[in-house]
Amino acid sequence: MRVLSGIQPTGRFHWGNYFGAIRQYIALQGNEQAFYFIADYHALTTIDRPETVRKVNEERFTPGKLAEYTLDAALDLLALGLDPQQATLFRQSDVPEVTELTWLLMTVTQMHLLEKCHAYKDKKDRGIPADAGLFTYPVLMAADILLYDSDVVPVGLDQVQHIEVTRDIAQRFNRIFDAEVFVLPEAKVLDQTAKVPGLDGQKMSKSYGNTIPLFDTPKRLRKTIMKITTDSTPVEDPKDPESCSVFTLYKLFADEQQQAALAARYRAGGMGYGEAKQTLYKAAMEYFGDAFERREKLAADLDTVEDILRAGAGEAREKGREVLERARTACGLRATPLSDE
Ligand code: ADP
Ligand code: TRP
Repeated sequence: MRVLSGIQPTGRFHWGNYFGAIRQYIALQGNEQAFYFIADYHALTTIDRPETVRKVNEERFTPGKLAEYTLDAALDLLALGLDPQQATLFRQSDVPEVTELTWLLMTVTQMHLLEKCHAYKDKKDRGIPADAGLFTYPVLMAADILLYDSDVVPVGLDQVQHIEVTRDIAQRFNRIFDAEVFVLPEAKVLDQTAKVPGLDGQKMSKSYGNTIPLFDTPKRLRKTIMKITTDSTPVEDPKDPESCSVFTLYKLFADEQQQAALAARYRAGGMGYGEAKQTLYKAAMEYFGDAFERREKLAADLDTVEDILRAGAGEAREKGREVLERARTACGLRATPLSDE
C-alpha cells in the first residue's frame, strides 16, 4: 500500500495546516509506504498576476517567494516529525516526468470533468479570468497520484473531488488504451473535526489573513496570539469557554485535565482574556518546543535538507519512470525518450 499526498508551498504553514493535515501525514508514515511532496508546480497557478494582486495581506506571492516557501515547507515538515527513513519527501518539480504524464492524461480528460472542479468554477463565477494552468490543475494532480501507483491519498474534504476526477481519468485511460496501466486510488479524508479557527474566529486560512504561523520567533508568536479576537466581557465576569477561539485553540494543545482546568477558570470569572491568551501561548511553546529546536538545527544545515529532497526525488523518479513507461507504451509511444537510453 502506498500513501501519497502533496502540499502547496503558497505561504508559511500555519496551525490550521498542521492540525488539519500535516499531523495526519506524519501519523501515516509509519505503517505504510509513504510519498509526500511539496507541490511547487501547482503553486505556480497562484503566483500573483497583475490583475489579482492580493489585497488582503499585502505580501505578494512572487517567484522568489516560491523558492523560499518550498524550502520552508521542507524544513517545517522535517522539524514536525516527517522522517526521511520512513517516508519519501521530495519537490514535485524535481520529478519532471509528472508533467509528461499530465499531457498523456490530458488527451483523455473530458472537458466537463474539469469544468465542474471548484477552484476553476469559483474563479469563473467571481468573474476572474482563469489561466489554462488553473483549469487543468486537477490533471496535474491526477498525474501526481497515478505516477507512483498510489493506493491511498490523504486529503482534506475540499480535495476529494480531485481524487474522483483522478479515478475517472485513470479508468478512461485504461479503457481507451485497453491496458491496466493505472492503479485506482482511494481518498482518505482527513479528520476535519480540527477545523482550526483563525485570529478573527473564521476558519484559519492564508486567504483570510488570519493565520498563526507554525514557526515564528517566540516574541512574534506571543504578539500574534494577543491579537485573537475576543468579546468584551469584563475581567471579573464569568465567560463561556466554548464560544471563545482562544479556548478552542487551547484544546489543540492541552489534555482533558488541562482543558477542564482552564474551562473552570473561564466560568468562575476573574480571569481576563489576556491571561487565557498567555496560557495558550505557553501551551503552544511547549507543544512545538522540540520542533522549534529541530527546525533551527535544520535551518543551519541546509545541505542535509537538500540531500533529503534529492534522495527523495531519486526514489520518486525511479518509481515514476516505471509507471510512465507503462503509460507511454500503452499509447503507442516509445517506452522511453531517446535521451534516457
Ligand atoms: P490555506 O487555507 O491557508 O490556503 P491550504 O488550502 O493550503 O491552506 O491547506 C492545506 C491543508 O491544510 C489542507 O489539507 C487543509 O485541509 C488544511 N487546513 C488549512 N486550514 C485549515 C484549518 N483552519 N483547519 C483545519 N485544516 C486546515
Ligand atoms: N491540490 C492539493 C491542495 O491544494 C495539493 C496536491 C497537489 C495534492 N497534488 C496532490 C494532494 C496529489 C494530494 C495528492 O491541497
